Amino acid sequence: MKKLMSVLVAGVMLFSLAACANKDDADKETSLNTTEEATTVAETSASDEKQETEASGPENASSDATTEDTSSESPENTQAHKEVLVVYFSATGTTKDVAEKIAKIEDADLYEIVPAEPYSDADLNWNDSNSRSTKEQNDSSSRPQIGSAAVSLDGYKKVYIGYPIWWGEEPRILDTFVESYNFDGITMIPFCTSSSSGLGRSGKNLEDRAGSGNWLDGKRFGAGPSEDSVRSWIEDLN
Ligand SMILES: Cc1cc2nc3c(=O)[nH]c(=O)nc-3n(C[C@H](O)[C@H](O)[C@H](O)COP(=O)(O)O)c2cc1C
Repeated sequence: MKKLMSVLVAGVMLFSLAACANKDDADKETSLNTTEEATTVAETSASDEKQETEASGPENASSDATTEDTSSESPENTQAHKEVLVVYFSATGTTKDVAEKIAKIEDADLYEIVPAEPYSDADLNWNDSNSRSTKEQNDSSSRPQIGSAAVSLDGYKKVYIGYPIWWGEEPRILDTFVESYNFDGITMIPFCTSSSSGLGRSGKNLEDRAGSGNWLDGKRFGAGPSEDSVRSWIEDLN
């Protein structure tokens, strides 16, 4: 009888231990699920916030601009930004190279004006009087839309603004850009790249269309200038 009781007691203890272990596993699982849910919610709300930030452009930006997500490149998402900003548009990379050299020398932020509708090779054909770039340059009221997220100019004292020369002038998308912002209190420095033309009217056009900012004369570069030549231009400005 005693033996039977001992076997029964041992059986009950074993059962209780097993039940306890199962409960611990279940608790762990619940807590893992809860953590996973929390991460998902946090990610969702962060992405909601990002979308809201991207939706709000500069106060006077044209309402139908800025739809493409280039937020990772945009200084507006950088917590503490630099004192100098280099804005540029570059269809084939020449101006981009100069913009990056300026940004390196000046320890500046970079902002690329990305067209909402990218320019194809056919669009850039200056030998075709019906190409998109020719038609835009022939129409001084043309304002191609910008696809990159708007940039906040808060805190910048100096902004370089670069572009290729198209038919002796700034591409019309630069006019879209300068008409969308207020440059009060900012020194604006145009620079361009070209095959052979100078800055021409482009700097003055931008100043007139912006209607704000303290515009300097600006500078034309050929393709692939040395960092030293870019640096010596910048030093002469200061
Ligand atoms: C539509 C179009 C028009 C151009 N017009 C001129 C011009 O009037 N004078 C000039 O020297 N170069 C002209 N170019 C050449 C560009 O200015 C030059 O290649 C520039 O460095 C390109 O810069 P990006 O690579 O940043 O776009 C023109 C290029 C294009 C596509």
